[in-house]
Amino acid sequence: MDIKKLHETFTEIYGEDSEATFFSPGRINLIGEHIDYNGGYVFPCALDFGTYGLVKVRNDNKINFASTNFDLRVKSDLDKPMKNDVIDDWANYPKGVIKIMLDKGYKVKGMDILISGNIPNGAGLSSSASLEVLTGVIINNLFNDNSIGMIDIVKMSQKAENDFVGVNCGIMDQFAIGMGKKAKAILLNCQTLEYSYAAVNLLNYEIVIMNTNKRRALAESKYNERRSECEKALEVIKKVKDVKDICQLKPEEFDKLEYLFTDEKIKNRAKHSVYENARVIKAFNCLNNGDLIEFGRLLVESHNSLKNLYEVTGKELDAIVEEALFSDSCIGARMTGAGFGGCAIAIVEKDKVNLFTSRVKREYTKRIGYEPTFYSTGIGEGVHRVE
Ligand code: GLA
Repeated sequence: MDIKKLHETFTEIYGEDSEATFFSPGRINLIGEHIDYNGGYVFPCALDFGTYGLVKVRNDNKINFASTNFDLRVKSDLDKPMKNDVIDDWANYPKGVIKIMLDKGYKVKGMDILISGNIPNGAGLSSSASLEVLTGVIINNLFNDNSIGMIDIVKMSQKAENDFVGVNCGIMDQFAIGMGKKAKAILLNCQTLEYSYAAVNLLNYEIVIMNTNKRRALAESKYNERRSECEKALEVIKKVKDVKDICQLKPEEFDKLEYLFTDEKIKNRAKHSVYENARVIKAFNCLNNGDLIEFGRLLVESHNSLKNLYEVTGKELDAIVEEALFSDSCIGARMTGAGFGGCAIAIVEKDKVNLFTSRVKREYTKRIGYEPTFYSTGIGEGVHRVE
């Protein structure tokens, strides 16, 4: 990112330069998909690309939003109620966080903001959560003396997405973005929010992000649908077992309860959740023990479960993962994030990456009719002030 250019743009828009710059990453999830809202373990990491925010505090109560990614500028006013407005489009994410923080009694003042991101939009790499956590950290740093803990910022960002934007997401994305550490993945227990870090040492392999370039149309409504299906599954389980979340069950326990389900689809949603949760712990151990082949195999198992039991992949993600696995240089691949399009990850031998991507590109394009995009990324730091 050309920060100097961003300062120039800021000055062009607002008449003088900004006083503080912040960075908030995107994220990928290594494994543990669609189980954060079922009290499961997830294993995400922050990326080294993301969203920059330049800010200048104002002397009044106006908040102005501009972005280098979209033409739309939005003006809002702290003296008026913060409401979600469709025409405010992307600015509803920061507005939501401001609203939640005001409701909690935190200080927010007027400011001019310029946002600039290099996370491809709608690719499932959490550009929206990145913007939310960025907003929380700006407010914490500039108006609240850094007195708000990062996990509280994470929770308020999730609440903004749930209550203000209307997507019933779990906590994984905001947590990964807030708490990410360079070269580390976070093992997070979404029921207790206990977490630990694991070094992502992939030896002679690297992570390749593969964007299907299929926009995640209707993803929000299908996402909310999966959540309510899981609530139904939990009701069924609760008839015989006193659990708070589906992921409290071990696979053996779940197998004994399968007979309870009259609806095959609801059973499959629960089955994915329970088995995926068990896979996360196995994958965490594999990574710690340097057993990358088994780690890769678990990623493939995860993808297949998301395809067959949870039904959130779709032909584009399935095609790109199949094509990735066709190459001997790839030891594992799966969709990452909410699914229904967006990105998959592949673990690929470092010195064969170019060969790998050109083959996947060719074959995917033949099958789907348009090209995918690839990013090789490092695992980056969580959100922070840059200067
Ligand atoms: C989206 C949500 C997360 C999580 C994933 C699926 O990214 O925001 O909370 O549920 O989907 O694992």
